[in-house]
Amino acid sequence: MTASLPAEMAAGDLVYRTPPDVRFERAEGVRLYDESGREYLDAEAANGSLSWGYDSSIVREACLRTMSMPALPSFCESTLRVRVVRRLAERISAAVGAPGRVALELGGAQGIEMAMRIVAANRGGGPIMTFQGGYHGRSPFTAHLSASARYRAVQPWSGPDVVRLPYPDCRTCSFSTGDGCNPACAAAVERLGHDDLFGVPRTGVAALVLEPLLNVGGCVVPDSAHLRRVVDHVRSLGGLIVVDEIFTGMHRLGHEWGFQLHGIEPDIVVASKALTNGVTAFSCVWAREPLASPEIFPPGSHSSTFAGNPHSLAVVDTVLDRWQDWPEARQDVAHLSTVLTKALGELRNDVITGVSVTGALAKVDLAGPYASRVRALATSDPGLPGLLLASTGMAPSTVILHPPLVTSEEDLRQMAALLGAALDRVECET
Ligand SMILES: Cc1ncc(COP(=O)(O)O)c(C=O)c1O
Repeated sequence: MTASLPAEMAAGDLVYRTPPDVRFERAEGVRLYDESGREYLDAEAANGSLSWGYDSSIVREACLRTMSMPALPSFCESTLRVRVVRRLAERISAAVGAPGRVALELGGAQGIEMAMRIVAANRGGGPIMTFQGGYHGRSPFTAHLSASARYRAVQPWSGPDVVRLPYPDCRTCSFSTGDGCNPACAAAVERLGHDDLFGVPRTGVAALVLEPLLNVGGCVVPDSAHLRRVVDHVRSLGGLIVVDEIFTGMHRLGHEWGFQLHGIEPDIVVASKALTNGVTAFSCVWAREPLASPEIFPPGSHSSTFAGNPHSLAVVDTVLDRWQDWPEARQDVAHLSTVLTKALGELRNDVITGVSVTGALAKVDLAGPYASRVRALATSDPGLPGLLLASTGMAPSTVILHPPLVTSEEDLRQMAALLGAALDRVECET
């Protein structure tokens, strides 16, 4: 039985098309518990934000840090804000290998919007390039950068031109001959700006906004060499390189940042989810000097009541302490990859057509558009604990696991076994 939509709830505020029939009440480690006390293993991790699992000590520590100063007016400075901004700037500048400044925002989409403001302050209102299948949020601006027409159906647009580059998944790219990012695809990208046919100016392209892994687009890892070629081409047209690390930042793909996986040097980085472990809405925008310098991005260009909220900053400060105390994160995520690859590789089911694991993210491709069915079955077998999986309307034949980075080997194996049980039920149905 599927629950009905409460009369007070706006349906457009929900990402799911039918209201979910499970309501969760509490969580601990990598487990959630519903109203009846039933247990669910979480291989989705709150949209990929819960690197540390459900760790109440983060909330407790952050609250203790700000009990005596819960909020400040936006025109006031705090030692905490300065410390957090410095820590973030140092971390990202070190990874990029260039000095930069950090601005704070509330969530992923707002972070991308802030990045676009910095782009406009430096490059004006020229076209913005993104990838087909890209996802950068559903706010009024970012809905127009994201791929799905569904997100912008209720939102007119008067912003800059958005040029979508071919979807970097060779199974779906319209240029694909099944041969990787072949010369036809690369040539198509390189014609942009040099061939009037596509309406892209020879100079004055504002930016390329890219994800190191197309998250909502089906967890596609683009070919690194192709990505670097696109980056070089956009730079040759004058565009800035904005890397959306909202999902991939802080070791989700193994490397600290996804751009390191591809060998790309960004001009602007937007980070979010793993900086608060899902506890508060927060994002940070790092911009290479001098893109966000006072002369170019002056005071008053941006402000919001909650972006510098002390509680949120204390959460980030606490989470940054956790990351600092985990210098082996990359090796540990590599180990997680190995365990997950083995456990998923042992599943015997004809519905599975492929398994690929990158860092702490596993993608299981299916023989048909069964992902939402698998996801539903994984939570509904009364004889087993539930399993939360990710899937996306843009890739209906793919289920995704992106569990907390601290998931134990035993729990990873149990997640794989529960996925196997759901897939067996799908195999019987098909
Ligand atoms: C790559 C990427 N960009 C942007 C966003 C939007 O972030 P938010 O949902 O916090 O607005 C997401 C969210 O899933 C994302 O994965």
